[in-house]
Amino acid sequence: MAITMKRYAQIVGVGSYLPERIMTNADLEKLVDTSDEWITSRTGIRERRVVAEGETTSDLAARAARIAMERAGVTGDEIDMLYLGTTSPDYILPSTACQTQAKLGLTCPAVDTLAACSSFVYALHAAASAIEAGRATTVLVIGAEALTRHIDFTDRGTCVLFGDGAGAVVLKAGDEPGVEAVVLGADGTAGDALIIPAGGAAHPATADTVAAGDQYVKMLGNDVYRFAIKVIPSSTLEALAASGYTVDDLTWLVPHQANKRIIDTVDERLGIDDSRVYVGLDKKGNTSAASIPLALDDLYTSGQLSPGDLLALVGFGAGLTWGAAVVRWTLPAYNERD
Ligand code: ACO
Repeated sequence: MAITMKRYAQIVGVGSYLPERIMTNADLEKLVDTSDEWITSRTGIRERRVVAEGETTSDLAARAARIAMERAGVTGDEIDMLYLGTTSPDYILPSTACQTQAKLGLTCPAVDTLAACSSFVYALHAAASAIEAGRATTVLVIGAEALTRHIDFTDRGTCVLFGDGAGAVVLKAGDEPGVEAVVLGADGTAGDALIIPAGGAAHPATADTVAAGDQYVKMLGNDVYRFAIKVIPSSTLEALAASGYTVDDLTWLVPHQANKRIIDTVDERLGIDDSRVYVGLDKKGNTSAASIPLALDDLYTSGQLSPGDLLALVGFGAGLTWGAAVVRWTLPAYNERD
């Protein structure tokens, strides 16, 4: 009798890159009517990184990916597919995944996933599905943002929130779990809650759209807040149930890093102690699609991940979209690598 082994997608490498320039809350106080006290008490953010002139999303993506590939010990010709999650593509066309593929010297297919801050989890779902189905063996998954390029630094409601950066993982086929479950969701009826109104085919850029500032992120902050505190707990529980676990089994909850108050409310609703919840937004702000892989690299390189740890990676954002992945960590601890 033939025994068929299940194929799993395992994270075999992780890397990240942050642009050099730091913008503190004190810097923002000079631009808009705000205060360090307001920003830290309402969001938990103290500083964020901002891309340099001429630096693009694909530049950040390629830097993060190189580190992830090197740590995974994979060469470019082993990568079967590249998925790149972003909200701030270099261009509408060509894709940022293709720009990144060229910078990395890869020859594999490459595609963007555009699900705002949920983009990394959406990309992880596509990558893990391709591996489990046997259509790919090694897949590069990147979350990268130069979102400050779409921020109006005269709008205090948004400019204090966002930052730039990139994180990447290499997924590879293995016979132990891996990515155990991914649940995704979308509600397009609430698209106006978080939108860049102009620059797409609905409202191509004109002198009028630019004068109106419609190339910048517009957000109904309270609507997004209410959505986030509902959907993070529900999608986390759904993904845990799909993989046969409960909150007690989690080593780390890694929520999208939008706002500390959102994370605190989620911790309460899930009944998880905040010592098991990653928070890194104080130094990075909301890096949208990059926030979850940046968090993974932070946890990994600070020695807080060991083989066997169970993680829930949970994204939410414009669309509206959301996604939760339950992942068994398989990499040796950072300081115990070969
Ligand atoms: N500094 C000082 N005051 C401010 C600032 C600021 N930067 N921003 C807004 N305010 C003022 C408002 O004008 C308002 O003043 P008013 O009472 O005189 O009208 C007051 O502060 C309160 O405003 P609220 O919007 O009610 O403030 P709130 O406590 O809700 O915090 C925030 C706003 C931080 C935006 C919150 O709603 C939030 O975090 N929402 C979720 C946002 C989010 O997660 N976005 C990312 C999603 S991911 C993606 O897809 C990109």
